[in-house]
Amino acid sequence: MKFLKEEKRSHNCGELRGTDEGKEVVLMGWVDTRRDHGGLVFVDLRDRYGITQVVLDPAKEETKVAKDFRGEFVVALKGVVRRRPDGMTNTKLPTGEIEIEAQFASILSEADTPPIQVNDANVSEAMRLKYRYLDLRSSYLQKNLKVRHQLVTSIREALNEKDFLEIETPILYKSTPEGARDYLVPSRVHPGHFYALPQSPQTLKQLLMVSGYDRYYQIARCFRDEDLRADRQPEFTQLDLEMSFVDVDDILSLNENVVKHVWKKMKGVENIDFPRMTYKEAMNRYGNDKPDIRFAMELQDISEALKDSGFKVFDDVNAREDGAIKAICLEEKASEVSRAKIDKLTKMSQKAGARGLVWIKWEADKVSSPISKFFDDEKLKNIASAAGGKEGDVVFVVADTWSTTCNVLSVLRLHLANEFGLIDRSTDKFLWVTDFPLLDFSPEDGRWYAMHHPFTAVADEYTEDLLAENDKKYAEMTAKAYDLVCNGYEIGGGSIRIHNPKVQKAMFKALGISDEEAQERFGFFVEALRYGTPPHGGIAWGIDRVSMILTGTESIRDVIAFPKTAKAYDTMSDAPSLVDREQLFELSIRVHKATE
Ligand code: AMO
Repeated sequence: MKFLKEEKRSHNCGELRGTDEGKEVVLMGWVDTRRDHGGLVFVDLRDRYGITQVVLDPAKEETKVAKDFRGEFVVALKGVVRRRPDGMTNTKLPTGEIEIEAQFASILSEADTPPIQVNDANVSEAMRLKYRYLDLRSSYLQKNLKVRHQLVTSIREALNEKDFLEIETPILYKSTPEGARDYLVPSRVHPGHFYALPQSPQTLKQLLMVSGYDRYYQIARCFRDEDLRADRQPEFTQLDLEMSFVDVDDILSLNENVVKHVWKKMKGVENIDFPRMTYKEAMNRYGNDKPDIRFAMELQDISEALKDSGFKVFDDVNAREDGAIKAICLEEKASEVSRAKIDKLTKMSQKAGARGLVWIKWEADKVSSPISKFFDDEKLKNIASAAGGKEGDVVFVVADTWSTTCNVLSVLRLHLANEFGLIDRSTDKFLWVTDFPLLDFSPEDGRWYAMHHPFTAVADEYTEDLLAENDKKYAEMTAKAYDLVCNGYEIGGGSIRIHNPKVQKAMFKALGISDEEAQERFGFFVEALRYGTPPHGGIAWGIDRVSMILTGTESIRDVIAFPKTAKAYDTMSDAPSLVDREQLFELSIRVHKATE
């Protein structure tokens, strides 16, 4: 019997059912488990589609190799489908009604004893990353990568339908500022010169608009050297898209349709709402610009209720122009919030930047609070009521600068919602956050930074001020920028772009980029804007993050075939690694300091 040449795989390991009884089939796959039983060998044969049980008789010449089968051997079998005997059906497996009675068997490839067991939940992540190719055999990762594939496929369907062209842009390119450090690639032919890997295809897609490709998209790899988090990788994938002759509403509605198409295909969900909220409103109500709106617990401004309170901390903050006193209310949990828990929450608030955390625990027989020295019970109840609290609730108050107050309470809000199970995980909740500030001032650097990126258009009413370099207005200027948020994740961000070269230059000025630097870094781009640029705008989705939501994982590594660790390291191949002196010499590079 010549498998592969004469006998091809006829079915995969996940598809045979009771109705296939009597069929002659050829299966190939990995030995998941092997059991000897009453002179017969039972093998669970695995491939990415599932598991099928095969029974082999090692006493027969044609199937005697079964004696040598070990875990992870790759084998081929020919046999007949039969129903399992009564009482032997495995309801946990889709193929559990049947088994294959093997007539021929062959080993295609032997395997050493693997360092990790496939599908073993107890293996450490370090080992799983080191032996990623084995971990990728697990049903969990195979399911996730399939979801990711289906996501990208359905995005392509929706956009192709709308006349979008998928166009590739270079990876070896020039710095594209998105707020992170660049990954640089030295050039051998131009000693001392470097390409930068794109942080996004931002300038390139805008140039495509200049060139008239009025609906572009790309599933684009992006590279950012930045601190990593559970939802960040140094290289990640965007659905990058751009359109001409549009304003904000056009982009938002196009994206809503793509999301609807994807969610219908992948989750069977029909009706999705896309509420909109300005950045300011999101910050005030939820304390951050990517709020999880699957639960309420909104921030309440209680500055007014604490006016002239006589308590120095509150009065000082109330006197500050940039001060804010806000609170959140944890409903009906007073009896579950212990002192130890409050200490933990206080530490968490301090870590998030607060000087302290005020709480009011309103129980039937008493009201307790660290500020009960300064306020009687009635007043404490009034403060709690101002935050929407009532008997049985705990209210948490933060008094600080507006941004610290918002940030601290948003951290607490999320933590409490998770801890007390307040999040309705049965549906995904989307939200547009709009009207971001155009600029953000860094007191450390003494300069303004682009809140989105330097190509983002300012709201129409501020165009004149931007052109006039009226820096007194910089703080209040809003941008035609928007983020798409889902379940508290920023899954996409974009903007309408500057298409007037004069405005673009004024924006560089506002960012403290000198004419020479602007010319050197973006001269080609600003020049292009001069030759007939349509109004345009776009967005990029984080494909990895959308995949996380669709698969329900909280780790971005679970949706990437070969991810890096939190230290941007590939433990499987040991990248980055030292290179030969020879190679460095060719690249005209001398390394000053290297760590082994
Ligand atoms: P932005 O920087 O907001 O915009 O990125 C768009 C989306 O990409 C995802 N994302 C990431 N995902 C994983 N790891 C990372 N390190 C990472 N960084 C970003 C997020 C984010 O919402 N050029 C603009 C888009 C535009 O204006 O059209 C841009 O890149 O989900």
